[in-house]
Amino acid sequence: MNRIKAGLVALLIILFAMQLIQPIRNRNGQVVNKDSGKILRVPEQVQGIFKKSCYDCHSNQAEYPWYTYIQPIGWWMDSHVRKGKEELNFNEFGVYSKRRQLSKLKSIGQSIEDETMPLSSYTFIHKNTKLSKKDKALILDWVKNTINTQ
Ligand code: HEC
Repeated sequence: MNRIKAGLVALLIILFAMQLIQPIRNRNGQVVNKDSGKILRVPEQVQGIFKKSCYDCHSNQAEYPWYTYIQPIGWWMDSHVRKGKEELNFNEFGVYSKRRQLSKLKSIGQSIEDETMPLSSYTFIHKNTKLSKKDKALILDWVKNTINTQ
C-alpha cells in the first residue's frame, strides 16, 4: 500500500513538473505581406476554412485552447506546429518561388483528397477543425482554379 502511495505521489510530482516546461507559443504573426492572401486570390470562405483547420500548424498565428496549456498536450502540438510550418506556411507563401507555390497548391489539393490533413490525431481533440464535405469541395475547387490561373 505504501509503495502504491509513494508511486502516486511521484507520478503527481512528475506531472506537476511537466507543467512548468511550457513550449514557446507560435503567435508572432510575422511576414504578413508575404501572406497567401496577398499573393493569391483567396475567397473569404476558403480563407475561413484554412484559418479554422490549418492555421494552427501552417501559419505564424496558432490558436491555443486551454487544454494546450496542459503538458504533454502542449508539447505534442508544438512538435506538429514546427513540422507543419516547415512544410507549408500560409503567412509566408510569397517567400516560396513560383514553382514551389505551385507544388504547394498541388499538395494542398492532394492532402484534402487523401484526407491526410488536418491530421486525424488533431481533429480528434480539436473537434471543430474537422472539414465538412462542403469545406473539402470548396478547397479543391479553389486549388484547381488557382492552379489554372497561375
Ligand atoms: C496539427 C497540425 C496540422 C494541421 C491542423 C494541419 N496540418 Fe498540414 N501538416 C502538418 C505536419 C506535421 C506536416 C508535415 C508532414 C506530416 O507529418 O504529415 C504537414 C504537411 C502538410 C502538407 C504537405 C506539404 C508538402 O509540401 O508536401 C500540406 C499540403 C498540408 N500539410 C496541408 C494542410 C492543410 C490544407 C490543412 C488544413 C485543411 C492542414 N495541413 C492542417 C500538420 C498539420
